[in-house]
Amino acid sequence: MSVPSLGRHKSFASFAAHLAEAAPSLVADEHLLGDAGPLGSRLAVGSLEIPNRWAIHPMEGWDGTSDGRPTAWTLRRWRKFGESGAGLVWGGEAYAVDPAGRANPNQLALFDAVRTREELARLLAELRAGRVDAGLDPEGAVVGLQLTHSGRHSRPEGAKAPLLAAHVPWLDRHTGVANEAHVLADEELAALVPRYVEVARAAQEVGFDFVDVKACHGYLMHELLAARGREGRYGGSYEGRTRLLLEVIDAITAACPGLAIGSRICVGDLIPHAAAAGEPGAPIEVGRPLEHGWGVDLGDPTRMDPTEPLRLVGDLLARGVRLINVTVGTPYTCPHVQRPAAYPPFDGYGPPEDPLTSLERQVALTRELKEAHPDAVVVATGYSYLQEWAPHVAQAELARGGADLVGLGRMVLSYPRLPLDTLQGSALDRKRICRTFSDCTNGPRSGLRSGCFPLDPAEAGSEDAVALRAKKAQARARAGRKP
Ligand SMILES: Cc1cc2nc3c(=O)[nH]c(=O)nc-3n(C[C@H](O)[C@H](O)[C@H](O)COP(=O)(O)O)c2cc1C
Ligand code: SF4
Repeated sequence: MSVPSLGRHKSFASFAAHLAEAAPSLVADEHLLGDAGPLGSRLAVGSLEIPNRWAIHPMEGWDGTSDGRPTAWTLRRWRKFGESGAGLVWGGEAYAVDPAGRANPNQLALFDAVRTREELARLLAELRAGRVDAGLDPEGAVVGLQLTHSGRHSRPEGAKAPLLAAHVPWLDRHTGVANEAHVLADEELAALVPRYVEVARAAQEVGFDFVDVKACHGYLMHELLAARGREGRYGGSYEGRTRLLLEVIDAITAACPGLAIGSRICVGDLIPHAAAAGEPGAPIEVGRPLEHGWGVDLGDPTRMDPTEPLRLVGDLLARGVRLINVTVGTPYTCPHVQRPAAYPPFDGYGPPEDPLTSLERQVALTRELKEAHPDAVVVATGYSYLQEWAPHVAQAELARGGADLVGLGRMVLSYPRLPLDTLQGSALDRKRICRTFSDCTNGPRSGLRSGCFPLDPAEAGSEDAVALRAKKAQARARAGRKP
């Protein structure tokens, strides 16, 4: 389908009319109130003071060294996170607790605990320097580190090296996983717990305020949540499927008193979508009811079902985990719901619906979670698709009580200072607004770094930008489209 572009709206009224048609339950304020409005309001979470309601989502760059250390590109990104002025930096990027669980050979990872401490200290120092560059208190933001294991999507040396929670025929087919791929045994899963603790301890020692135990986007912890067919301690029942996540959280709580814990969780999912490149995606054929799933209606897996995710949030709150970052779907199976985009990645399918409708689904689940668990500190996701209208929807959604903070992912790659500009009441720099071109996803899909190649001036002429242009031209030629 052709997507009505958001960039074409020259007035709020025009945007509001589009919103009313494509996503009627979304709200937007015409006038931005800056620091004096909901986006500028402080939020206390235990002993943590979040100075405003903008958050930065974790954004990995595929740009570490092959032994898991940050490079100049990684440090630059963290500096930009600091410059953004966002009150909460959620995770920075996915840090692999085990080198075998890296999603790519350039992911930051725990190889050696002493080195991990040194590197985390450098990342945090860079972020604080970014805040100083922006004229802000270096210690002013609340900063976390995201802990991950890539499970099915592990590629520590570049080639697929999946480490599964379970074999699932349709998912194996869709994600290109062979029958002989390794299913992690209960003992192997239990052995990951101390690795999560090791990185959490290092993060706490160098000054991170919290860690995020990532349970989304199809990676190991998310796949375990869905592993209804898995036998043993870590699958089957709700208790079995949530066990590893809760064990990790309990172990970090015991080993790191005073360190806050959060979780980025999948609150809704759909079965994989597919189509020829650029054609509108459609759900793949699967037998029903599904035998594997989390946050999805098993009888009709084209619909999300947040019943279990909401129960999990209750269990997290009971353990003192209040920081919840809401996300849906996975970038490997249903990217249109996970990160709505006008221009899908070049190997992906076209939007099956107006991306505003995809965003509306995510916003509705976020509201539902906040309503069910008012004590949770809820971070909303997906707002980069809104482009210049993101602050208008963010302000209205916060005022409505649908979330506690609004997170930005892609927008911070193209326009790191957007949060600060909105808080200070400055006009937005339209040339830097993320237009969801997806090149930050195309890069990694082509074995390159991620970055905002189209809009970040430092990236525009980089080696990876040039290589990506060539790869895209080849892909277009293969598909018989104009260069
Ligand atoms: C290049 C890229 C890297 C990402 N890296 C991570 C990551 O390390 N951890 C994570 O939880 N999500 C990651 N995401 C997802 C984003 O955090 C975010 O959920 C998504 O982009 C939707 O938010 P947005 O509309 O503001 O971009 C990544 C997304 C992109 C495009
Ligand atoms: S490459 Fe830049 S403009 Fe495109 S989606 Fe990523 S951040 Fe946005």
